[in-house]
Amino acid sequence: MRVAVASDHGGFGLKAEIINFLRARDIEYKDFGTHSEESVDYPDYALAVAESVAAGQFDLGIVCCGTGIGVSMSANKVPGVRAALCHDTFSARMARKHNNANVLTLGQRVVGAGLALDIVNAFLEAGFDDGGRHSRRVAKMCGIEEKYCSK
Ligand code: RB5
Repeated sequence: MRVAVASDHGGFGLKAEIINFLRARDIEYKDFGTHSEESVDYPDYALAVAESVAAGQFDLGIVCCGTGIGVSMSANKVPGVRAALCHDTFSARMARKHNNANVLTLGQRVVGAGLALDIVNAFLEAGFDDGGRHSRRVAKMCGIEEKYCSK
């Protein structure tokens, strides 16, 4: 599994915790920045992860900001990305199982590192319940994207 990771300054500390978590489990990752707590613009970092996941260079993405909201909104603008803002493990698991989410977003100012890492673990371990109603619904979501985001 290859995971793309990024944050703005508001999620910088949590990104470091997530990278330690991935390293400890030998999970392949790329850190798309930011690389300090200096103020930056969250869409730039969400875009880097979202584009790399949409292009198939990474299986999943994880993006952090202060609330997780700005990076979620930004990542979801990229066709092919289904970013889920999850601050509990049940949502993280269901985002993968039912919605085939391919990007997880988290807010460092919302959840502590312990819970955040449990959420990351739930997201990485769960898989899409492929076939049947969930595939049909995800296909309908993609249809909306095609209708409004055709290049
Ligand atoms: C930065 O102060 C903050 O606005 C950002 O990290 C994020 O929470 C936006 O959604």
